[in-house]
Amino acid sequence: MDTGEFRRLWNEIEPIGRAASAGGEPGGYVRFSWTEPDLDLRTWFHTQAKRRGLRYEEDRNGNLYAWWDAEKEQVIDPDAPHPHGAVLTGSHFDSVPHGGAYDGPLGIVSAFLAVDQLKADGAILKRPIGIAAFTEEEGGRFGVPCLGSRLMTGAIDPGRARALTDPDGVTLAEAMSEAGGEPDLLGPDPERLARLAAFIELHIEQGRALDGSESPVSVATAIWPHGRWRMVFTGTADHAGTTRLPDRRDPMLTFAFAVLAARKEARIAGGVATVGRVEVEPNATNAIASTVTAWLDARAPDEAVLSEILEGFVSKVSERAGRDSTGFEISPESETPIVEFDASLRDRIAGLLGGAPILPTAAGHDAGVLSAHVPTAMLFVRNPHGISHAPGEAASDEDCAAGVAALAAVLRDLAC
Ligand code: GLV
Ligand code: MN
Ligand code: MN
Ligand code: MN
Repeated sequence: MDTGEFRRLWNEIEPIGRAASAGGEPGGYVRFSWTEPDLDLRTWFHTQAKRRGLRYEEDRNGNLYAWWDAEKEQVIDPDAPHPHGAVLTGSHFDSVPHGGAYDGPLGIVSAFLAVDQLKADGAILKRPIGIAAFTEEEGGRFGVPCLGSRLMTGAIDPGRARALTDPDGVTLAEAMSEAGGEPDLLGPDPERLARLAAFIELHIEQGRALDGSESPVSVATAIWPHGRWRMVFTGTADHAGTTRLPDRRDPMLTFAFAVLAARKEARIAGGVATVGRVEVEPNATNAIASTVTAWLDARAPDEAVLSEILEGFVSKVSERAGRDSTGFEISPESETPIVEFDASLRDRIAGLLGGAPILPTAAGHDAGVLSAHVPTAMLFVRNPHGISHAPGEAASDEDCAAGVAALAAVLRDLAC
């Protein structure tokens, strides 16, 4: 696969959702689900499917598919749970606010190019190959990550999903309807899942373990357990000049303590914790805040460490809120258990790719959600700086082309 081919297709979607970086703007990409860039990307997906003669489909949860149906379906492994099932590959289009170009779209572009490669090689399919674009993987607009795959697998109640709101108070149901979707149909799709034999997600690496490695592509072993919690700190709004320090109930103090406590508890236990989003009311320079709402993201190598971080954090922050005379409430928005990818699929792929490195990740993916139902694997394409969820995310065209070749080899092995 030559890098020119990758670049040509990549150039078609790379500008979509690119944000200005001039004049102090953060730049990067803003591709929120059901907004204009997302709709443009959906149209692009449909066009790509048509261009290749693939059967286009949108499921009840807004996830998109392009199917290459098998010409002569064969039972490959009669003992496998899904002897006739399809091999699905793909990723997501949506981004975090001002995120990178590659997180998500690389998996979809690579899937179309891998199919091109197989078609050019004259491959005959024994199983269908599908390309998927999952909706709202980042939770960048509605807060819950992997929403499309969670809905499909029944991991989130559709009523709860419909009522999720974006920062402007628009519900998912409203956003979806506005974009021509049918939110009443949201919900589990067991028949669709039962038709899958495997899911393979190719993704930009989100660390720099492959920097300096001989291999531009690695295979995932596991995803750390992780979650998001919404925190509300309450106090009393008052004048910043005239309110004596001992008379204040300032939730910003408790919030500031919480940011430091998150890091400290994570460091002690051996995980990571981040407070990356905060909203302040009334948000005035010369008024004590009345309410601070913030989100905690915590991740750890195993469930016990994650619980240890959370328990330590809640106890320290509650104690501090008592001293500050403020209120502190914390509730989970999403929790994702540890994911161990299918070991035989992983080893088969690593062998096929000439002994590609096998690595765990602390990032969440639709592959993690699907892996509870379907044998699933992930390929990571080298990221020279390791930066992700930020404008600096990068991959060379050579490594992306190597990723396509690796994905094509995996699809050939599993479906031909
Ligand atoms: C999603 O990419 C996440 O890991 O937060
Ligand atoms: Mn991401
Ligand atoms: Mn991603
Ligand atoms: Mn992700």
